[in-house]
Amino acid sequence: MIGLRALVTLTLALSIGIASAAAASAISPTGPNGPIVDLGYSIYEGTTLANGQNQWLGIRYGAPPLGNNRFRKAQPPDRTSGLQSAKSFRDVCHGQGGMKEEDPNTYGEDCLFMNIWGPSNFTNQSKIPIFFWLSGGAYIRKANPNYNGTGLVASTGNNMIFISINYRVGPFGFLASEQVRANGNLNAGLYDQRTALEWVQDHITKFGGDPNRVVIVGESAGAGSIAMHLITKTSDRESLFAGLFGVSPFFPTQFFPSDLEWQFDHYSSLAGCGNATDKLTCLRQQDGSILQAANQRMSYPSRPEPALTTWTPTIDGDLVPDIPFKLFLEGKFRSVPSVWGVDTDEGTLFAANASTPSEVETFLQNNYPELSDNDTARILTKYQGIPRRLGFAPFFPAAAEAYADLTFTCPGLAISSVMTQAGTPTWNYRYNVPTQQGIDAGTGVYHMAELPLLFGLGNSPLPDPGSRTYPMIPILQGYYTNFVRFLNPNIGNPVPINWPQWTIQSPAISPRRLLFQVNNMTTEALPFTGTQSARCAVWLPGKMQQ
Ligand SMILES: *[C@@H]1O[C@H](CO)[C@@H](O)[C@H](O)[C@H]1NC(C)=O
Ligand SMILES: *[C@@H]1O[C@H](CO)[C@@H](O)[C@H](O)[C@H]1NC(C)=O
Ligand SMILES: *[C@@H]1O[C@H](CO)[C@@H](O)[C@H](O)[C@H]1NC(C)=O
Ligand SMILES: *[C@@H]1O[C@H](CO)[C@@H](O)[C@H](O)[C@H]1NC(C)=O
Ligand SMILES: *[C@@H]1O[C@H](CO)[C@@H](O)[C@H](O)[C@H]1NC(C)=O
Ligand SMILES: *[C@@H]1O[C@H](CO)[C@@H](O)[C@H](O)[C@H]1NC(C)=O
Ligand SMILES: *[C@@H]1O[C@H](CO)[C@@H](O)[C@H](O)[C@H]1NC(C)=O
Repeated sequence: MIGLRALVTLTLALSIGIASAAAASAISPTGPNGPIVDLGYSIYEGTTLANGQNQWLGIRYGAPPLGNNRFRKAQPPDRTSGLQSAKSFRDVCHGQGGMKEEDPNTYGEDCLFMNIWGPSNFTNQSKIPIFFWLSGGAYIRKANPNYNGTGLVASTGNNMIFISINYRVGPFGFLASEQVRANGNLNAGLYDQRTALEWVQDHITKFGGDPNRVVIVGESAGAGSIAMHLITKTSDRESLFAGLFGVSPFFPTQFFPSDLEWQFDHYSSLAGCGNATDKLTCLRQQDGSILQAANQRMSYPSRPEPALTTWTPTIDGDLVPDIPFKLFLEGKFRSVPSVWGVDTDEGTLFAANASTPSEVETFLQNNYPELSDNDTARILTKYQGIPRRLGFAPFFPAAAEAYADLTFTCPGLAISSVMTQAGTPTWNYRYNVPTQQGIDAGTGVYHMAELPLLFGLGNSPLPDPGSRTYPMIPILQGYYTNFVRFLNPNIGNPVPINWPQWTIQSPAISPRRLLFQVNNMTTEALPFTGTQSARCAVWLPGKMQQ
């Protein structure tokens, strides 16, 4: 602790632009207005909450990715002088589509910020494990940024640090073209995640954290991103994380840049750079609001309707060395203890309200443009006779279940199996608790259904899922934070049942996954001859460019 007098000296020194060496070596000095941390490039003042936690909002980890910094890896932040406030959120990275009215966030292009919650009673010997949250949003928006991490930290008795980060999405994060490769960086959005993970390695001891105990918990595109960090060739920093928790991993089509020149050209035209001789330079000089106005849904060439997303990680030969599932199935990935799982009705928020089988096929091809009519016909043989859902056309359930399997469930099961094969402890689950909204709308246990409960009521802007679901709060928080703290979901806070590790599937062995249910936590087997296995057997990862 540093005293008030030292703080006044520090503030004085800062105001005339000299950093104080004495203050820099102190851990957790507290000033009159909150805790202070010296990151070398900036000194931040956070907030001490009544529950014994420090809250740091809007800490910059990358220089503004504007102008000439667009479509490149994040640059280091500039040095600042004077005390910087870490007391309120900064802009979330621009996303596609209108934001809902209840969305409390502000958005912008200068968005490389992170938020941290952790115990206030740490020392520099504490070695506290880190829950590093990567939000989802289909790589086109930030679907769950700026959730309050305080509930998760409190659930561990303040023995964990929670970090959430922003990363660029849409064209800002995933503009792909040979021109970007030549004069910039492909996959800037994934590089943002790595930059933030490197920041954690460099700075988290100043918050009491242990850089060797970082567990990435990603949801949807955040979980898909995790998989990219497993196959990367970029080896400048090998051990950015010790474990992974992939919540509903999102695996859309991920093309080579040469297959995405149409998108680069189309986006350049929408952004007023269609006639420029150097479109990339024009985009770097263009007004940010014009770039954002051009950030719209697109259709893949030769497909009739827009895909959910066309802005996805691209196969750059380095960070993403090849088609991801080719590498996973060839065993070319880094293996760390991990958890993967899905919600029962992953596809219901995304699927077309199909009235005929042919509308289901069109929907699948809109999102996976490499699928031929024969491919989709073969896939559809596994989605026959599914009961109708109230409020939806007859073939909506087939569209929803096929999309769920192709995009989330089969990829998650496949990664669990290859990681188990590599000898790494792996756990798998299905979350089977519908929210009240899911029951009312017929969308059931939709994508993200568990998030308001995982974070704890009031810690996200998501609607209250109904009191029937509340028993899941300590159960979700228990398994998740146990894995973060001990790389094993069964160790730490008490959990209702032992969660067995995943095993390799064979005709003789049926691996088991945890089934999250109210007052009925159990496990379920995935037999070789079961429906789920048969459905995943028609999944075409190479062909679908996942
Ligand atoms: C901080 O306090 C909590 C609860 O009061 C305790 O469990 C934890 O071990 C303490 N952490 C440190 C690093 O002293
Ligand atoms: C932790 O703080 C103590 C006391 O200020 C100091 O002697 C020690 O060198 C520090 N350790 C580390 C790892 O920074
Ligand atoms: C997070 O929750 C805590 C406890 O309720 C509260 O004190 C804090 O202000 C919240 N932070 C934000 C950013 O809303
Ligand atoms: C390119 O220039 C032509 C002729 O001036 C104009 O009609 C067209 O709209 C421009 N295209 C784009 C994409 O700006
Ligand atoms: C599609 O399936 C039909 C019927 O089985 C077959 O005749 C045709 O050759 C297949 N087309 C392609 C492109 O494989
Ligand atoms: C789906 O389509 C059916 C039949 O056209 C219609 O009755 C229903 O309202 C639609 N549901 C939704 C959620 O759009
Ligand atoms: C518990 O869940 C299992 C699996 O879904 C189900 O078969 C069983 O009937 C449930 N038990 C109760 C008491 O609801």
